[in-house]
Amino acid sequence: MTYSLPVVVESANAAPVVRTLTPSAGGLKQSPTTLVDSYGRTIRDLRLSLTDRCNFRCVYCMDPDVRFMRKVELLTDTEMLRLVKVCVGLGVRRVRLTGGEPTLHPTLTALIRDLRDAGVEDIAMTTNGSVATREELRALKNSGLDRLSVSIDTLREDRFTQITRSSTGVARVLQTIADARDVGLTPVKVNVVVMRGFNDDELVDLAGLAREYGVDVRLIEYMPLDSGKRWTMEKVVTADEMVERISAEHELAPIGRERKQSPATGYTFADGKPGRIGVIASVSKPFCGACSRLRVTADGKVMPCLFSRDEWDLRPLLRSGASDDAIAGALAEATWSKQAGGQITTTDYSAESRPMSAIGG
Ligand code: GTP
Ligand code: 5AD
Ligand code: SF4
Repeated sequence: MTYSLPVVVESANAAPVVRTLTPSAGGLKQSPTTLVDSYGRTIRDLRLSLTDRCNFRCVYCMDPDVRFMRKVELLTDTEMLRLVKVCVGLGVRRVRLTGGEPTLHPTLTALIRDLRDAGVEDIAMTTNGSVATREELRALKNSGLDRLSVSIDTLREDRFTQITRSSTGVARVLQTIADARDVGLTPVKVNVVVMRGFNDDELVDLAGLAREYGVDVRLIEYMPLDSGKRWTMEKVVTADEMVERISAEHELAPIGRERKQSPATGYTFADGKPGRIGVIASVSKPFCGACSRLRVTADGKVMPCLFSRDEWDLRPLLRSGASDDAIAGALAEATWSKQAGGQITTTDYSAESRPMSAIGG
């Protein structure tokens, strides 16, 4: 093994240690103009989870017996929109809608239209590709959605059923990838979580989707964010190993990151075929230094980092008539507390805060 990994999680089965913090009304500053953390990183990207519900139960994400939040706990569209407007006023430019599965949100089209009207420059969404039809995707595009990311982790039916624990088939998700491309939700990104001994033997075939569909396939290192806590370091295939294995089949030309804040390092195919590959080295080479992301969960908690154990609860402010300034102050306070990164270390790392399904992708 030629890679040196920063990690081993000793306590993968430890209970999550989540602290819910209530921001002081007004926050750090009375009227902040941007969201900056204590390491000097500025927030430009908001990841907004619309629901923790999903029709899949992916093994690396959600257990079958997961307990979903009650409707009353979820932010309403009006509350989400208000929050986004305040974020836009604080310099947020891009919003990615996540879940659970965001296409299960009943008023998605109207919400996207409102987000567009609120001045969000780029609206993207991450989906499991099993719900929306081509016509629904077209309607989402027309309402202002710019881009779609679709998750698929295997091309084999038996594995697809095993991974997603759903009755959806591979063909349905591949159709969504083609539909998203055809209705212009581009560049379409295809997310693949690579797990050793589970789907890593399909790396080359999955990378081939980029060539076949003319899309960006992103191969993601498996992170310890599964509610079943089955993550072990042995199951992680590093980004370097993925590139090495794909290169044995297709010569790749490195193109670096899309933006310096992007998690994926990109490659094109040296033979000029369309499509791109990206590898996301969240575990072996964390990219936290350039992070510009802030996450809001479906129940209104700000998670400054994917690995945050401290969540900042904005719902009480949103539901108690707080002013926009107070909400901006609370967002600034939460942002200031953003941790340096999500480096998984032997000594102080004790599993995840929430599972991915309750954070969004
Ligand atoms: P856009 O910039 O909106 O196009 O999205 P992106 O290309 O930055 O990627 P996206 O947010 O879709 O994330 C892709 C995958 O990268 C996620 O599913 C996660 O597995 C991983 N990822 C995203 N954000 C983070 C992060 O902040 N920390 C870590 N460790 N991993 C992340
Ligand atoms: N590790 C890495 N990525 C994950 N995702 C979900 N769980 C994990 C995990 N444990 C990503 C999937 C999906 C998005 C919603 O989150 O790639 O595209
Ligand atoms: Fe659902 Fe996505 Fe989690 Fe799979 S990874 S269970 S599709 S939220």
